Amino acid sequence: MGQDARDTAAGTGTLKSADAPDTPLLQVEGLRVEFGSGKDRVQAVRDVGFRIARNSTLALVGESGSGKTTVGRAIIRLLKPAAGRIIFDGTDLTAFTGLGESGFRPFRKRIQMIFQDPYSSLDPRLSIRGSLKEALQLGFPSRKAEWEDILAEKMRLVGLAPDYLSRYPHEFSGGQRQRIGIARALCVEPEFLICDEPVSSLDVSIQAQILNLLMDLQERLGLAYLFISHDLRVVKHIAREVAVMQRGEIVEMKETEELYRAPAHAYTRTLLEAIPGR
Ligand SMILES: Nc1ncnc2c1ncn2[C@@H]1O[C@H](COP(=O)(O)OP(=O)(O)O)[C@@H](O)[C@H]1O
Ligand SMILES: [Mg+2]
Repeated sequence: MGQDARDTAAGTGTLKSADAPDTPLLQVEGLRVEFGSGKDRVQAVRDVGFRIARNSTLALVGESGSGKTTVGRAIIRLLKPAAGRIIFDGTDLTAFTGLGESGFRPFRKRIQMIFQDPYSSLDPRLSIRGSLKEALQLGFPSRKAEWEDILAEKMRLVGLAPDYLSRYPHEFSGGQRQRIGIARALCVEPEFLICDEPVSSLDVSIQAQILNLLMDLQERLGLAYLFISHDLRVVKHIAREVAVMQRGEIVEMKETEELYRAPAHAYTRTLLEAIPGR
């Protein structure tokens, strides 16, 4: 859509965000993250930029150590960038100084992150109900009377029986734990999920189930994802667009189909060649 067409559509008041891929939910510009200081300083992320529209997925792919997790942590403000802007729904999040700052608080709910190993982020001493209630305390502190209904609904959304709420993390398989991790992220009803290697520790058959669940949730809830993986195979169906990261930089970014068909960068070709039976 050209600039003129967009102005016309906006003028009629019929422009919905879903129809406007040019208005990103998340826009990252010139992101730089450094660790250490003095001569030990490392630039883990350099001049990284991308856009993610509502209800869509960008995959961030690269070998271990390329800076993918660091990008995710900077977006949810677990790390402070040395430079760059992180614009979420029109607000530059880098303008806030800390996670506790009142201006940032509404955004904490809107952006959630899920991890490779949800077991390490679930407290083994708490039942699943206990862990998810911690999330509800952040999401809906004033709706305590509804919490039990909300928890049952989130469990069903991820394909688990609400009965499982009374069980403990060690009683679940890897795939079930990842479903619980997703349910916990959904407890605050976010719009954007950073999925950091969410299937990397799972068997291939279970990987497919979790990927299908994420795609189904995207469709039902209108979620946007930054989907991080070291494995290009995993992102083929889930992401419309892929950014390839190497040593802290994005070296190639294009539509997934196009990337598979005509990889332009040598590093992308190396990643593709690593896929068996391709
Ligand atoms: N907290 C940290 N302190 C120092 N260096 C770090 C820290 N976190 C990550 N790094 C370094 O930053 C680089 C990128 O790491 P990371 O983002 O975890 O990569 P990826 O997720 O792609 O495997 C690596 O060289 C890593 O060693
Ligand atoms: Mg990582």
